[in-house]
Parts: sequence; C-alpha cells; structure tokens
Amino acid sequence: MRRCLEIARLGAGGTAPNPLVGALLVQGERLLAEGWHERAGGPHAEVRCLQAFGDGPVPVDATMYVNLEPCAHHGRTPPCADLLVARGVKHVVVGMRDPFPQVAGRGIERLRNAGVEVAEDVLLDECRWLQRRFISSVERNRPYIILKWAASADGFLDRHPRAGRGVQRISTPATDVIVHRWRSEEAAILVGSRTVMNDDPSLNVRHIEGRAPLRVVLDRGGRAPSQSKVFTDAGNTVLFTGTARPELPVEQIMTSPTDDPLDGILAHLHDRNMRSVLVEGGAELIEHFVQRGLWDEARVIHGQVFFGNGTPAPRIDSAVRIERMVGGDRIVLHRREAGHVTWDW
Ligand SMILES: NC(=O)c1ccc[n+]([C@@H]2O[C@H](COP(=O)([O-])OP(=O)(O)OC[C@H]3O[C@@H](n4cnc5c(N)ncnc54)[C@H](OP(=O)(O)O)[C@@H]3O)[C@@H](O)[C@H]2O)c1
Repeated sequence: MRRCLEIARLGAGGTAPNPLVGALLVQGERLLAEGWHERAGGPHAEVRCLQAFGDGPVPVDATMYVNLEPCAHHGRTPPCADLLVARGVKHVVVGMRDPFPQVAGRGIERLRNAGVEVAEDVLLDECRWLQRRFISSVERNRPYIILKWAASADGFLDRHPRAGRGVQRISTPATDVIVHRWRSEEAAILVGSRTVMNDDPSLNVRHIEGRAPLRVVLDRGGRAPSQSKVFTDAGNTVLFTGTARPELPVEQIMTSPTDDPLDGILAHLHDRNMRSVLVEGGAELIEHFVQRGLWDEARVIHGQVFFGNGTPAPRIDSAVRIERMVGGDRIVLHRREAGHVTWDW
C-alpha cells in the first residue's frame, strides 16, 4: 500500500479534479505490475496496472492493491470493479473507501458479490492524507485550503520602507523550486490586493515543469495597477472586485465592497470543481482565513535574512507540525487538525 501511495503521488497536479490513485498487482513477494492515474480523463490506475501486466491470465493467488476503492460507475471510463472481476482478480486490498456518499462501498460490494475477497482500510490515515483535497471537496463542500508564507528570521513578511515595487527575497533558490512544485499541485492560488500592489508577483510555475494554477486576486477596492503581471501576462486570472475594471483582460467576479469575501471565493472555486487553493498572502488575507478557522494546512518558510521592520508574519496554532531544512531555510508544515502528515517534496 505504501508503494501504491508513492506511485499515486506521481499524478499530483495532473489528475485533478480526480483523486490520486496507484494500483499494484502482486503475487507473493513478487510485483507483477503497477500503474497510476496520470491525468483526468486518462485510464484509471487499475486499468493501467492490468495493461502493464498484459493480456495473459491473472494468477488466482495474485492480489491487487489500490489506495482508493475501485469505481463502480460509468464515468469517462467503464467501472474498474467490473474490469477486475472480468480479468479474474480474486483478491483486492483497498486503502480507503471512495468518500462520495453515493459511491462509497459500491465498488467493494460489486467485487464481493462476484466472489472477490476484499480487505479494507489499510494505511487508512496515509490514504486520507494523500486524498485530502478530494476529501475536502466531498465532505466540506469547499477546496482544501493551504496557507503559505515566507518570514524573515526576525518575523517579517516584507521590509519597510520598501526599495520599490517587486518581490523581496526571503527564501533560497532550493526552496523556490519546492514552492513552484506546490503551485503546480494545487488548482488555484489566491493573493490579496496589497501583495499585487507591492510585489507585482507572477504567481506562475517557472522553476519546474508543471501545470500553472488559476490565479485569484482579491481586490474589492480596485486598487491593483492595470499593468500588474497577474493582469497582463499570458496566465489565467480571476479578479474578485467591488468595481468593474473594463480595462483589464481578465475574468471578473463582482463582490460586495464591504462583506466578508472569503465564502464567495471558496464557493466560486468549488463550483468550478477546484479541489484546492494555495493562499500566498499577504498577512491580512491570511489572518482572515486563520481567524475564521478556514484552513487545513499551512506551509511556513523561515528564511535567514533580517528585515528589522515590515509587515509582521501571521501566527498560527496547529495540531500537528513537522519541519525540514531546505537550502538553509526551515520549512514548517502545519496541519490544523490532528492526523497523519507526510513531507512529500
Ligand atoms: N513573505 C511572504 O510570503 C509574502 C507573501 C505575500 C505578500 N507578502 C508581503 O505582504 C504585503 C502585503 O500584505 P498585506 O497584509 O499588507 O496585504 P494583503 O493581505 O496582500 O492584502 C490585504 C487583503 O486583505 C483583504 N481583506 C480585507 N478585509 C478582509 C476580510 N474581512 N476578509 C478577507 N479579506 C479581507 C483585502 O481585500 P480588499 O482589497 O478586497 O479589501 C486584501 O485583499 C506585501 O508588502 C508583500 O510584500 C509577503
């Protein structure tokens, strides 16, 4: 099952809005074949595993391991549970049930009805951690929320007075590569108006090959300059604004200039089938998420530079935290609720 989770993760960023799934066919100590779901619309992990195994008969003592219950419904591909039965797989080990209430258990039931022996809930916590974006969407009707910021060694997000518009470096190049991987693995990335005004960030994926998330800008006062990169470069941006900005070539969602904007943003992303959002600052926007308890994970980069003065970094209480040193930076991963956490990068 650990190997299933490992290969399932290879689909990170590509399978959304589908879950991350890996499957192995094993006979005794021997790995016969493996496969994972690579991208939405492509073959499921079980299909790819059996393709890799080939057309020959599946040995009666072989076991298929899969981290998520095989599907029982006709989507873009036929049901995997039926495929397993048709191919003569007699033993299946499932990491976790499909969280969709209308699907949960049906795939397992189909297998059992056809005489397949099924074991469930193997490495359940690890499986749920891997599937956390998908689970948030199904169980909470909102995207999985990851807060991210970088703080100087003396606890500031930026330096005052500023030398001008543009990003002020806190993290090392090694950390920047990881941050770009984080971006490529989430559906959307959200920033506040003052971050666009002060930093003029691109918010795209440059240091690795990967899919760029949808950029979401909250600027109810319409203060962010029209020439900002998030409005003028080739990437996709959605602007939540209180005043129409006809001069901007980006999608605009009108929002009340005074009401709390967070629920509307999250509902919009959920309606677009976006399963996760990376909130990249600044401090005020992050504080609003923290105050409302609207976050699942926080990734905090503690750099080595000293700013002396600036915007104070947010403070956060979490149930679980783990940390890693990366190129001189200390990266702390917080999980709001108790449970399993893995460092995946
Ligand atoms: N080190 C880092 O990781 C990092 C990351 C990002 C930014 N920064 C720095 O942080 C600075 C900007 O941070 P900041 O704190 O000044 O501004 P900010 O968080 O970028 O922008 C303030 C945001 O708070 C929003 N807001 C106001 N009331 C709200 C409410 N009731 N609920 C939810 N959101 C609400 C504002 O929305 P409206 O505009 O719609 O009112 C605005 O989007 C920049 O100078 C930048 O350099 C550092």
